[in-house]
Amino acid sequence: MDFKQLVFSGVQPTGNLHLGNYLGAIQRFVALQDSYDCLYCVVDMHAITVWQDPVELKKQIREVTAAFIAAGIDPKRHIVFNQSQVSGHAELAWVFNCVARLGWLNRMTQFKEKAGKDRENASVGLYAYPSLMAADILLYRATHVPVGEDQKQHLELTRDIAQKFNNDFGPSIAAKGLGEVFFPLPEPLIGGPAARVMSLRDGAKKMSKSDPSDLSRINLTDDADTVASKIRKAKTDPEPLPSEAEGLKGRPEAENLVGIYAALGEVSKDKVLAEFGGGQFSTFKAALVDLAVAKLGPIGGEMKRLVAEPGHIDDILRDGAARARVLADATMSHVKDIVGFVR
Ligand code: TRP
Repeated sequence: MDFKQLVFSGVQPTGNLHLGNYLGAIQRFVALQDSYDCLYCVVDMHAITVWQDPVELKKQIREVTAAFIAAGIDPKRHIVFNQSQVSGHAELAWVFNCVARLGWLNRMTQFKEKAGKDRENASVGLYAYPSLMAADILLYRATHVPVGEDQKQHLELTRDIAQKFNNDFGPSIAAKGLGEVFFPLPEPLIGGPAARVMSLRDGAKKMSKSDPSDLSRINLTDDADTVASKIRKAKTDPEPLPSEAEGLKGRPEAENLVGIYAALGEVSKDKVLAEFGGGQFSTFKAALVDLAVAKLGPIGGEMKRLVAEPGHIDDILRDGAARARVLADATMSHVKDIVGFVR
């Protein structure tokens, strides 16, 4: 069966957004708008799998939405909404909890990392998180999912759930005249020059909102002076820059900064090094500051302006949710019929 090409992705409203979120996710969401119909979701139900302060959560949901809009996602042409406003996510997640096997979830590395040593004390929601993520995607029968490397395993699980549902209910799907398979097996869209943005203090660690040092990351709402000083203080090594990307091997800090420049400038690392190879980091860093400030400054400014007007953001989310609900309800009606629920 042919499925309509559709992109779905989600961002958790937890902690301040930083350059890693922008280059790894949001900038790519913007680029996909011309080739696909897109749904971009602020996944607030995923956020509460670990404790969130209610006042902070509300603020963060609006801040992620503001970042989407400020970066150039068009909420009229596409759909921008928060997950909890469309009840189909929770409903389909329950069905998927009954499709997915314990053994599958036991293999999820992100759960092991997030639960840490005290696994007995992790929420049931944190454990079942991947089946909610599968529901997010399959509720719209989305075919393409831009995600970071760290979400690849969850996307594979999504495919396994889709396939098992299609199999387990094959005769029921066919009997309803819905074709041979009901859910597509969604493809990850991974890659780009900065698929992984690393800490500015340690090229072996991912840039992260939970790093205790604020110097390790560039927040989307940092002002120009802060961005400049963080880049100037970023860790490097004593060698001059190589003239080809190949020469970045074994030099994680250099590779990270070149990757950031390439991603922000939307060019290849080789192109960046053709310009800066052989030169000192100080020259390169000055150019990186200019590029970062030119790219991120307007986004941060627009985010602040939008966040100051929460009523407008809430309108965007409500409108997006209403349009998402139309698609979600259609899928859920079929799912209920397929499973054998009376409605
Ligand atoms: N788990 C993703 C993350 O932490 C967020 C997410 C939730 C998501 N649902 C999704 C991403 C559906 C893509 C598609 O980054």
